[in-house]
Amino acid sequence: MKITVIGSGYVGLVSGACLAELGNDVLCLDVDPRKIAILNSGGVPIYEPGLEELIKSNVAAGRLRFTTDVAESVSHGLVQMIAVGTPSGEDGSADLQYVIAAARAIGRAMTGYKVIVDKSTVPVGTADKVKQAVQEELKALSPKPLSEVKEFSGKSKR
Ligand SMILES: NC(=O)c1ccc[n+]([C@@H]2O[C@H](COP(=O)([O-])OP(=O)(O)OC[C@H]3O[C@@H](n4cnc5c(N)ncnc54)[C@H](O)[C@@H]3O)[C@@H](O)[C@H]2O)c1
Repeated sequence: MKITVIGSGYVGLVSGACLAELGNDVLCLDVDPRKIAILNSGGVPIYEPGLEELIKSNVAAGRLRFTTDVAESVSHGLVQMIAVGTPSGEDGSADLQYVIAAARAIGRAMTGYKVIVDKSTVPVGTADKVKQAVQEELKALSPKPLSEVKEFSGKSKR
């Protein structure tokens, strides 16, 4: 299966490498060009035991790639897995601005059906906000009915 992982930090990179090891065709996106440059030159920007070997073997097998190109990453995966940061706000709640920015980027670039997975640690109800953000971007691009946007009511992550 073609999977895009949005955010190549601790969670995104480990998830992407493990999904590639399972045989999926994985493209990891990040907005940080330094992180992607390190990954594309064979390095690993974080330390997790065993991760470097996993990344190297899956890159060599052609199942794992890294990019800063949003259009490429949205077009790649049927599954778009959001794994960006959710830092605590002043009141202790999760700051969802990066999750919503990632959702908006998907909405702006998608041209067909996508399954969006909230892998970031988010409060209940975030799936609705992600869906709304995608719909707003699609609506801004086209006044047509949003027949390709379907809702999946899965278990929310806490
Ligand atoms: N690190 C952990 O041990 C851990 C454990 C459990 C849950 N989590 C949760 O997982 C999520 C990710 O945490 P992390 O530790 O991997 O964060 P991180 O800061 O290591 O990685 C997040 C990455 O997302 C990138 N990013 C931000 N906005 C982006 C966008 N619009 N498009 C593409 N990339 C974007 C950042 O540049 C960064 O590289 C958070 O919700 C966190 O709470 C983390």
